[in-house]
This record gives sequence, structure tokens and C-alpha cells, in this order.
Amino acid sequence: MPKVTIDGISIEVPEGTSILNAARMIGGEIVPPAMCYYTKLETSGGYCRTCMVKVVKGSEKDPRPMPKLVASCRQPVMDGMEVQNITSPEVVEARAGVVEFLLMNHPLDCPICDQAGECNLQDLGYEHGKDGTRYEFGRREFEKKDIGDKIQLHMTRCILCYRCVKVADQLCPSRVHGVMNRGDVAEISTYIEKAIDNEMSGNMIDVCPVGALTDKTFRFKSRVWFTKPVEAHRNCTKCSGNVRLWFKGEDVLRVTGRKDQWGEVKEFICNECRYDKKNVSDWVIEQPTHVDRHSVISQNHYENLKQMKLDTQRLKAKLPEKKTNGNTK
Ligand code: SF4
Ligand code: SF4
Ligand code: FES
Repeated sequence: MPKVTIDGISIEVPEGTSILNAARMIGGEIVPPAMCYYTKLETSGGYCRTCMVKVVKGSEKDPRPMPKLVASCRQPVMDGMEVQNITSPEVVEARAGVVEFLLMNHPLDCPICDQAGECNLQDLGYEHGKDGTRYEFGRREFEKKDIGDKIQLHMTRCILCYRCVKVADQLCPSRVHGVMNRGDVAEISTYIEKAIDNEMSGNMIDVCPVGALTDKTFRFKSRVWFTKPVEAHRNCTKCSGNVRLWFKGEDVLRVTGRKDQWGEVKEFICNECRYDKKNVSDWVIEQPTHVDRHSVISQNHYENLKQMKLDTQRLKAKLPEKKTNGNTK
């Protein structure tokens, strides 16, 4: 098994593993961000360049460094390879440059965007973005397109990661949507504005790293950090039926696939589970979702509230008992 060292940490990984996946096996801060790669979508990755790293030693056999930064999601590891991510000022600077490009035409929609709180671009901007913009021109505008009654497309927020196109290609029986044109006029479009009406099309919402594709049945209902996610399942003939329900009070506001710590869905779900099963009685509730994220979504989460309660109880137990004068009123 090839051995790779990333930011000074070594690991042996199966042949053919990408640098990104090797870093994910190590975990922690050294994992490069990924806006277009998606484990479950073939040929994804290589579009956004946020996962760039520096290969300072190619391999044991050929120790020459790679001349340019490489996309870690596409570059397989070689035995003896040495990689720098957060330990390389060059990588950190290049990533900030990529973020600047991604935000160049991006609208300042966060206060009204349904993705806010679970948006990869928000996280990336927070970690690598600059305070201001150097861009002097007007931001790109697009003609509004209706892509059906369930999915809302905001083309101005799209970063052209191609994930939704891969979903359309690989999960939906007949592809009706793709990227039209190239360069700064490239846009996601349904061919001849056909509605996306096949059973698995809703997964495009889950894979979209930004708020370009959002669920029309959830739009503007709540900020995501006011909702409580729980794991649930039902017997479904079209998909695994394993989902995440997003509650506000007693109401199920949204149904999504379950995502892992890298923000990727574990199993794709069908449109029936996603849009048509919004009663608690439709589901068998399993447990609260563990939200393993550093964004605002993990705040107000009742796992945290439970922890806060426990902390308070522990604190109270440590405090000396309050003296009373016998008057308990
Ligand atoms: S897609 Fe993300 S960064 Fe863009 S407006 Fe929405 S929340 Fe903000
Ligand atoms: S709509 Fe979303 S998933 Fe599709 S290319 Fe744009 S950013 Fe990616
Ligand atoms: S995640 Fe590697 S290029 Fe986008």
C-alpha cells in the first residue's frame, strides 16, 4: 500500500486513493476543502480548484516536486509522496485567490438565502475570504429560469461545480439538464426549459454546495439553525428510505438525505420521501442528528442544548449549597 505524508502526518492508503481521500482518512484540519468533488458521483472533481495542494515530493522513485499546485481530488497518491496543505503559505494564498474568484460574481444573498448556515461557500469565505472585493464591474445577471415546481434555481449563486449535472447524468434515467455555454456566460439549464421531473432529481438540491438549487417546499420557511434535524426512516420502494427530517416545533419542514462529516449524502433519496412525506406519522424516528460542523447550524442544536443542560447541572452540583433562613418562600 502506498504511503503518503500530508502536512507531516503519514498514512498508508489503498492503491489509487486520491490525496483528498488520504487526507480525509487522516482527518482534522489538514483536509482540503472540496466544492465540486463528491464521492458518490463518478467523474466529479477537478472543476473548482479549492482542494489544491502542493506536492513537495512526487514519490520514492521520483522525488522531484510537482511543478504546480495540484487538485487533490484528482491526484492519486504515490508511494513516498509528500504533500503540503495548510503548512504551505503558497497553498493558503492560492486558495484565498480561488475564493476571491468564486465570490467575484457571487451575490450578497446570505441574509435571504436558504443555504445560509449550511453553505460550503460561506464556510470557505469565512476561512479564506478577504474583507473587500477588488472587482470593479457589475455582477453577472441571468434570465430567471423555472426548472419545475420543486427546485428553485438561482443561477447567480451557482459556482459551476457540475455536481447537479452528474446527478442528472448518473441518477436520473433521462438527463434534461446540463451546463450551457462556457466561460463567464456558462449556466446550468434544463434543455428547452423542460421540468426536471424524474424520481431522483431532488438529490441535486442536496449535492449543490451553495444556494443555487434549493427546495421550493422549504423555501423561506425557516433559517436552518432554528430547525432540529433528526434521523428517520420509512419503508420505501424507490430508495433506502433513510432520511434526515428537519423539525420546527412539531412540524417537519424539510426532508433531506443524511450527510456525512464531509457534507456528502450517504444515500440518495427519492422525491416521494423528500417532498411528499412531511407528516411525523410517515416516519420512524431514530435519534437526533449529530451535527459535526463548525458553522452556525450546530448552534441551537438540541444535542448542544442537552450538553449545555448537563454542563449547568454539573456546575450547580459544584456550587456550595445556598444558605436559607428557613423561609422557603
Ligand atoms: S450560496 Fe452561500 S454564500 Fe451564497 S448567498 Fe447563499 S448562503 Fe451566502
Ligand atoms: S447549481 Fe449547484 S450543484 Fe449545480 S453546478 Fe451550480 S453550484 Fe453546482
Ligand atoms: S474539489 Fe477538487 S477541484 Fe473541486
